[in-house]
Amino acid sequence: MCGIVGIVGQQPVSERLVDALKRLEYRGYDSAGVATVTGGALQRRRAEGKLVNLETRLKAEPLNGSIGIAHTRWATHGAPTEGNAHPHFTGGVAVVHNGIIENFAELKEELTAAGAEFQTDTDTEVVAHLVARHRQEGMGRGEAMHAMLKRIKGAYALAILFEDDPSSIIAARNGPPLAIGHGDGEMFLASDAIALAPFTNEVTYLTDGDWAVIGKGGADIFDFDGYPVERPRQTSMAAAYLANKGKHRHFMEKEIYEQPEAIGHVLAHYVSLIENRADPVPSFDFASIPSLAISACGTAYLAGLIGKYWFERYARLPVEIDVASEFRYREIPLSPQSAALFISQSGETADTLASLRYCKKLGLKIGAVVNSAESSIAREADAVFPILAGPEIGVASTKAFTCQLAVLAALAISAARTRRTVTENEVQALVRSLAEMPSIMGQVLNSIQPKIELLARELSNYHDALYLGRGTSFPLAMEGALKLKEISYIHAEGYAAGELKHGPIALIDKNMPVVVIAPFDRFFSKTVSNMEEVAARGGRIILVTDEKGATGSKLDTMHTIVLPAVDEIIAPMIFSLPIQLLAYHTAVFMGTDVDQPRNLAKSVTVE
Ligand code: F6R
Repeated sequence: MCGIVGIVGQQPVSERLVDALKRLEYRGYDSAGVATVTGGALQRRRAEGKLVNLETRLKAEPLNGSIGIAHTRWATHGAPTEGNAHPHFTGGVAVVHNGIIENFAELKEELTAAGAEFQTDTDTEVVAHLVARHRQEGMGRGEAMHAMLKRIKGAYALAILFEDDPSSIIAARNGPPLAIGHGDGEMFLASDAIALAPFTNEVTYLTDGDWAVIGKGGADIFDFDGYPVERPRQTSMAAAYLANKGKHRHFMEKEIYEQPEAIGHVLAHYVSLIENRADPVPSFDFASIPSLAISACGTAYLAGLIGKYWFERYARLPVEIDVASEFRYREIPLSPQSAALFISQSGETADTLASLRYCKKLGLKIGAVVNSAESSIAREADAVFPILAGPEIGVASTKAFTCQLAVLAALAISAARTRRTVTENEVQALVRSLAEMPSIMGQVLNSIQPKIELLARELSNYHDALYLGRGTSFPLAMEGALKLKEISYIHAEGYAAGELKHGPIALIDKNMPVVVIAPFDRFFSKTVSNMEEVAARGGRIILVTDEKGATGSKLDTMHTIVLPAVDEIIAPMIFSLPIQLLAYHTAVFMGTDVDQPRNLAKSVTVE
C-alpha cells in the first residue's frame, strides 16, 4: 500500500504535498514524510503515525522548495518508526515507494558488501542506494533509474528526486497505480487521481513497466526497455470524490446512512440490464458460459460469496469462488469459455488484479465489479460493472458492500433471464423486490439506532463474539464478524450455523455473545435449532431477525433486533445495516479510531 505524491511546481510545494497526502491517507497511516530540493540540497521532514504529526512537524520546521515528493506509509518491511519513514535519502537521491521490492535482501547484501551503509529496515532503501551507486559510476539520472529498474523485482510505484536536479522527478510503475497530473506550468504525480483533484483533472496513467521523467512542462514516458512511449491523457472524474463527513461523526457512519441513496443509483443503472432494454451497461453473454469464476478479497469476497448463492440458485450457473490470494495460485482448472468476475471497491487490490490477469491469460471473459471506474481492475476488464457507491473513505467497507451485492443480484437475475432458468413473472417479482430496497433501508436506518446503541454498549464489554447464519446469511455472518473485529478489535468469527456443533460450540459460555442472523426464510427453523444449542449452554444470543421471525422464535435472547420482513433476494442488503451499525457503535463506545483502524489501509496494493 502506501501513497506517494510528487509536484514539480512554480511555488513552494510542501503544503500542497501534505494536502494531497491527506487524500491518500486511506492507503496507510503508519508514518508520513516530505522531501524537497531547496538551496541545492535535499531536505526532508518525517513523522511517525498519522499525517497530523507531519503537519505539526512542518509547522515547527517549514520546508521550502518548489519541487518535492511525499509519502504516507503502510509498513511492510521495518517497524512504523520515523527512522523507517519515507522519503529515504542516500548519495543525493531521495525515494518514495509504494509496493514491495522482493529481492531487496540480496540487493542489500550486495550493496553492503560494496560499502553502502543502510539507515533503515525497509526494502525501499535499496532503490536509493542502487540509483546513487549508478550515479557515482557516471550515469545520468534517467540512465541510473533505468539501470536500477532492471535490478529490482517486485511491485512498485516509485518517485525519485535528485539533489542535483531542481526541475524534474523520475517515476516508475510496476503494479501499484501511478497517475501523472498535467497542470498549468506545473506537473504532478500521485498514487491516484483523487489526490490530484484540487490541482488538475487532466491525468495520464502509467502502464506497468513504464517510467517517466516529469518536468514543469510535461512528462517523457519510457517503457521498460527504455523506448519512448505515448500514454493517453484523460479527464479524470476524481474531483467528484472529494468528500467530507457532513453532519456525521465519522465517514463510516455517513457511508452507512448513504446506502438507501447509493442503492437507488445502482438500481437505476442496472434494472434496464435485467429487463434487456437498450442497456447502459455492458454484459456477458451469460447464456453461453458453462460456469463463472469469482475472486476478491475481504468484504468484497464476502459479497462475491453471497453472489454465488444467487448465480447458482437463480441462473443455475456454477460458480467457483475463492479469496484472490488463494485463487491466483490454486491452478484451478477453468474453461476458456467461462467468464470471471473480480469484485473490488478500490479496483487496485493487488491479489484481485493478479487473479484477473491469471484468468485473462487463460482466455476467460473478464468482468470488473468496481467502485472506481479509473482503477487498474476496471481498465483491464472486458466489461465494467460499476457499483456506483460514491466515495468510500472509512476503511471498513459498508456502502460499497451493499452496492456490490445489489450489482451482483442484478447480474444474477439478468443471467437467470438469459439462461431461461426463471420465468418472466419471476424476473419481474425479483426486480420489484430490488426496487423496494432504498425505502426499506431508509426505514430501517431511521428506526434501529437506539436499540443498536444499547446493544453495542453491552457488546463492548466482551472480548469475543460469534456470528452465525445459514444460506446467504452465512457470508453475512462472516462480514459481521469482520466488521466488528476490524474496527472494535473484539475478536469475532463468522460461521455457518450448521457448523456450530462441529467445533465452535466448545467456545459457548456466558462470556460468548452469539449474533444470529436469521431472517424468516426457508432456513429459519433450522437456525432456531442452532440457537437452542447455544441457549442450552448458557450462550448469550443476539438475534437479528424480521417481524415474522421475532414471533416465530420463543427463545430467551439477550437482545432481538427486529427488521421488516423482506423478500429473500434483498435480505442480505437489509440485514447488513444492523450488522454494520452494531460494529460501528461498539467501536465508538470503545473509543477506537473508527475510520482508520490500526494496521489497516483502504487500498491493498501489495500481496
Ligand atoms: C473490510 C474491507 C476489506 C476490503 C478488502 C478488499 O471492511 O474493506 O476487507 O474489502 O481489502 O478491498 P477492495 O474492495 O478495494 O478490493
